Amino acid sequence: MTAQADLAFEGRGTSGVPLLLVHGFPVDRRMWRGLLERLGDVARVVALDVPGFGGSPPVMRDTVTMDDLADVVAAVADAVGFERFALGGLSMGGYACFAALRRMPERIERLILCDTRAEADSEEARAGRLADAERALAEGPGFFVDKMRDKMFAPATPRDRPELFEEVDGWMRGASAQGVAALLRGMAARPDSRPQLGAIAVPTLVIGGRDDKITPPDGMRAMARAIPGATCVEVPGGHLAPLEFPDEVAAAIRPFLRSH
Ligand code: MLT
Repeated sequence: MTAQADLAFEGRGTSGVPLLLVHGFPVDRRMWRGLLERLGDVARVVALDVPGFGGSPPVMRDTVTMDDLADVVAAVADAVGFERFALGGLSMGGYACFAALRRMPERIERLILCDTRAEADSEEARAGRLADAERALAEGPGFFVDKMRDKMFAPATPRDRPELFEEVDGWMRGASAQGVAALLRGMAARPDSRPQLGAIAVPTLVIGGRDDKITPPDGMRAMARAIPGATCVEVPGGHLAPLEFPDEVAAAIRPFLRSH
């Protein structure tokens, strides 16, 4: 995919480690807002919107692959003047990190993998995604949001912080049907990244929400064990731990950025 010039992103901080963050699906860069507020003193931190989400342009194609997202990362890095940078991604954003490592390893100097997985979809999951993509185009993404919304958070969050739960529900319902369908197809097509884990040669921090139902802690720990020298930190929260518990996630990232 040709990188688009009008991709949306926002940043904080004027000195320190360049850090680029890629959001999960089907949310957008707003999920990183707590980290933007907290890391600006140690990093030049930039959160981007992938095409079809947040403020980025609509998707004009059937499929947006993880390689396409790696190209989006490169385009935003170029736009903000990051030659080499730390790359962080949550869930789908993590899949994009693996693609970026394959496509431009020379630009990535450290890695933050949040609530994600390295393996590809099972046949069943892939078929489910392709069916969901068709349905999102036919009737809009609402049915998909209904399926996802409880899984995105720790069980206590909808109860204790209903305003946050409703806010994220609104973000997801605001995503375009074309964006949702194109990324579902792209995630369905992603390769197994496990074979590359042992060759990751940059400092890596793995962060997982203790109550993550989509990418549970066991899987995060196994992924971290397969990456040489990786640090694994469990934090409170669910799949969107950086949004639910930004203090704890920032506290994990801060020493990681200061070390190495
Ligand atoms: C995400 O949060 O990005 C999604 O859970 C990823 C996925 O559907 O595999």
